Amino acid sequence: MVWKIDDLIAVLSVEDKVKLVVGVGRAKEVPGAAGETRSVRDVKPISLTDGPSGVRIEGSGDLWYYATAFPAPIMLASTWNPEVVEEVGKAMGEEAKYYNISVLLAPGLNIHRHPLCGRNFEYFSEDPLLSGVMAAAFVRGVQSTGVAATLKHFVANEQEVNRRIVDTIVSEKALREIYLKAFEIAIKEGDPWAIMCSYNKLNGVYTCQSEWLLTQVLRNEWGFKGLVMTDWDAGDNPVEQIKASTDLIMPGNDDIVKWVIEAVNRGALPIHYLDRAVKKVLELIERTATARESRREIDWKKHSEVAYRAAVEGVVLLKNNGILPLKPGTRVAVFGTGQVETLKSGMGSGHNHPRYVVTILEGLKKSEVIVDEELSSKYENYVLSKRGKDKLDKLYRDEILLEHIPQDIVSEEDVAKYAERNDVALIVITRISGEGWDRKSVKGDFYLTDDEQKLIDIVSKYFHSKEKKVIVILNIAGPVEIVSWRDKVDAILVIWLPGQEAGKVVADILLGKVSPSGKLPITFPKDWKDVPVAKSSECYPGIPQDNPRFVVYCEDIYVGYRYYDTFGIEPAYEFGYGLSYTKFEYRDIKVEKTGTSVKVSLDVINVGAYPGKEVVQIYIKAPKGRIPKPFQELKGFKKTKLLKPGEKERIEITIPIRELASYDPDRKLWVVEPGEYQVRVGTSSRDIRLIASFTISEEHVFAP
Ligand code: BGC
Repeated sequence: MVWKIDDLIAVLSVEDKVKLVVGVGRAKEVPGAAGETRSVRDVKPISLTDGPSGVRIEGSGDLWYYATAFPAPIMLASTWNPEVVEEVGKAMGEEAKYYNISVLLAPGLNIHRHPLCGRNFEYFSEDPLLSGVMAAAFVRGVQSTGVAATLKHFVANEQEVNRRIVDTIVSEKALREIYLKAFEIAIKEGDPWAIMCSYNKLNGVYTCQSEWLLTQVLRNEWGFKGLVMTDWDAGDNPVEQIKASTDLIMPGNDDIVKWVIEAVNRGALPIHYLDRAVKKVLELIERTATARESRREIDWKKHSEVAYRAAVEGVVLLKNNGILPLKPGTRVAVFGTGQVETLKSGMGSGHNHPRYVVTILEGLKKSEVIVDEELSSKYENYVLSKRGKDKLDKLYRDEILLEHIPQDIVSEEDVAKYAERNDVALIVITRISGEGWDRKSVKGDFYLTDDEQKLIDIVSKYFHSKEKKVIVILNIAGPVEIVSWRDKVDAILVIWLPGQEAGKVVADILLGKVSPSGKLPITFPKDWKDVPVAKSSECYPGIPQDNPRFVVYCEDIYVGYRYYDTFGIEPAYEFGYGLSYTKFEYRDIKVEKTGTSVKVSLDVINVGAYPGKEVVQIYIKAPKGRIPKPFQELKGFKKTKLLKPGEKERIEITIPIRELASYDPDRKLWVVEPGEYQVRVGTSSRDIRLIASFTISEEHVFAP
């Protein structure tokens, strides 16, 4: 670095300063990057790019930029394993660095407020603790390489309908306990160098123009020292943005440069605001300098192994009537076009361009099962004829939204034949989603289509008539309706959007090379009408069609399982749910309370026949007090190591007393009310294995 920050600020002209805080889009330095800063005097530009599932840069013509496609963040969260997520972050950081990207525009940690947000796959969970801990791990991984990570989208940006203008109306209590909480944890545990304010307004003010949010909460209360950048073209007033404590306006343009210069000249933007922003931009450039100076070749094979490990730990087994794992040599009839056009990720910023994707069919063919090739080639030819070669060739290179094509392309006669000569049936169901649109509560999206239902019906009928079993693989971006068809099948696996190693992951899980250990980071409701936001079009204006410009977070703090548990609504599969091939027992719980924390310890024993990992989840049920509280809340979790049959691990989880607090909007304080607190240790939020308690004898209060 040839300059010193304060010396440089002292000699920069107003125009230089403004150019430093207003970026440029569609970068020149790295083709396809989302944006870069401007070159000003000796300060060279730095590049920024997406995103949450892998480094996203695009070439053109024959020049393509390949980067590993990691599993989507919803799947990373399903691992409940921060170590794996940190590894993914590190690998992404290395790839960013290799392509001379200084700032990665990830992780995204908006809350899965409702199951159909189009970008849920880019976010982690409906729970702020799980989201925050995963995001922090991701950040630590990325930044260990010298590349900056960016938390996004700050804050209350939980829908894509009207995403650039929607005004989110939410109580301060829900904001602090749920939506801000995830970011607060990620900042305190991950120390990200950047954060991106969102497109939406928050209670009437654009987040990037909110002094309350950016100065009071983010900087003053949480002590955030990094840089705040806008989402791409967010908000409507760059001067207000800089005043509020936004430091970098992205992607920016020359008109914005003129606008800000003029505001300084006329005294509408006092220079100290601009200097503050310039300083943050220069600090970020300085912090990421080592990354630019120490570019290294990538071990792509190693990164594909990281992608595999993360995906395999994030597979969630919803149902198993004893058919899984399969034995080597099992003859498998595979139905559904998803075996050929397997979805690796969603669309938009969460998409990237890997060198290859192992489809489900390819993965199975390379494994120890025997695939019915005649049936699979029917699906291959069908997909080819419907999509065209060009589209299929580009499937993993371009962003292609595949329209639904009928899945029941085999006659009943044929299915009878396949049932006769195979041992088991596999049905692949896919659902994509992406940036810019929300999913819908209709057939073909949340619900299965008639042809998918028919496929399940006939395959189950013929395979069951031969006493053979049926397994469904859900290659999905978010929850789908399952209750209407689950009794017809014998096993259900959620493989989410598993990245480039998809087929290998599926084969290894089916064959029991790895026992599933993923747990749902989001509730699967029985039906759309059970979802809290489905109550009125104000609570979620994406459906029905009228699309007002605001959304009211009417469920308040009762998001996800907090709602289902408090109001006694039974979900299809609850938060934290996921089966294993083995069985775990929980024993010997001990709760030790000190003045500042509660330590919970217990033994987990693998009492089944397979090696496996278990996710221990601690929910706290607070006493009924003055402040409204959900039935229970996740306050800690830990994934065990791989436990062999008979093996035991002592788990210890410490919960700070402060984390038991609820926000009291009247007193503007976090309050831990006195009384008896129940410690509920479960393998899911509803399968509670051990219960203990502790008492808080007097009220504790904490400033925000
Ligand atoms: C998205 C961000 C993304 C940015 C740059 C925006 O439209 O909302 O998530 O990082 O574009 O690609």
